[in-house]
Amino acid sequence: MHTVTLNNGVDMPILGFGVYQIPPEQTERAVSEALAAGYRLLDTAAAYGNEEAVGRAVENSGIAREELFVTTKLWVQDAPAQANTKRAFETSLTKLGLDYLDLYLMHQPYGDVYGQWRAMEDLTREGRVKAIGVANFHSDRLVDLIVNNDITPAVDQIETHPFFQRVADQKIMRDHGVRMQSWGGFAEGRNNLFTHPLLSEIAEQHGKSVAQVVLRWLIRRDVVAIPKSVRAERMAENIDVFDFELTDDQMTAIAGLDTGASLFFDHRDPEMVTWLAKRRLDA
Ligand SMILES: NC(=O)c1ccc[n+]([C@@H]2O[C@H](COP(=O)([O-])OP(=O)(O)OC[C@H]3O[C@@H](n4cnc5c(N)ncnc54)[C@H](OP(=O)(O)O)[C@@H]3O)[C@@H](O)[C@H]2O)c1
Repeated sequence: MHTVTLNNGVDMPILGFGVYQIPPEQTERAVSEALAAGYRLLDTAAAYGNEEAVGRAVENSGIAREELFVTTKLWVQDAPAQANTKRAFETSLTKLGLDYLDLYLMHQPYGDVYGQWRAMEDLTREGRVKAIGVANFHSDRLVDLIVNNDITPAVDQIETHPFFQRVADQKIMRDHGVRMQSWGGFAEGRNNLFTHPLLSEIAEQHGKSVAQVVLRWLIRRDVVAIPKSVRAERMAENIDVFDFELTDDQMTAIAGLDTGASLFFDHRDPEMVTWLAKRRLDA
């Protein structure tokens, strides 16, 4: 598996497996199949409700811990966020059955962000996590976090797909040494992504699928991708993307699909902030 090196020297696979919206009862099978297909990066979250199933699949895989790269995410914490974050971290780690995490992400840019981040910094210093990062941080919030804290996030995981390409955000991340990771790389199929005429034409030119073209496009941009699928044949398809390269003309053509707008929700929308703020996990 090809890797990228994060700002603290930790290597991360450039392609992994996401488990958002996989029901807990299907997750162990799906993750076991993904590991058998060759995935080594697993992306879950406390909020997905399937960390225990991910942990069972990891344990049953027999794969050495150091060969795996496991990410989970901290849900929004109330003050005192430092204590609450450490408790939430222990809960996630216990559910996953692990004694360290490779990457711990702050899931949303809300709540006591500073308290959460300082607790995450402590977890890194204590060796409990190899790297820490954030998700859904727009560039202004990301830079604010960077300039006012000790540890720069290794990763910002944000909505990124052909219809919302985040080129300006990626430049700011690069300038600060933050690795961009795409969530919703297929836009969950919205805008008829899998039958899009331009993407289909490019796919045909390479004898590949639209999904493979999209993943190759992300990888060519140095963006870490974590496609989700519950189907073994698609898991195999989605990891089989290292034997072709998009041309510069094809990259330019795909760049033309950017609408500059989210297909899901805007993390700056006050209604969304209010809605997410009401959600709390038990942990
Ligand atoms: N940080 C955040 O706030 C955040 C938010 C969303 C997602 N994420 C992470 O990012 C990961 C990926 O995003 P996502 O799950 O939202 O969506 P996604 O990967 O963009 O799309 C998943 C959808 O594409 C389908 N699919 C997968 N491979 C396919 C293929 N080769 N051909 C046709 N259809 C295919 C899947 O269907 P089947 O399953 O039926 O195959 C599923 O409906 C998540 O699992 C999660 O780990 C993070």
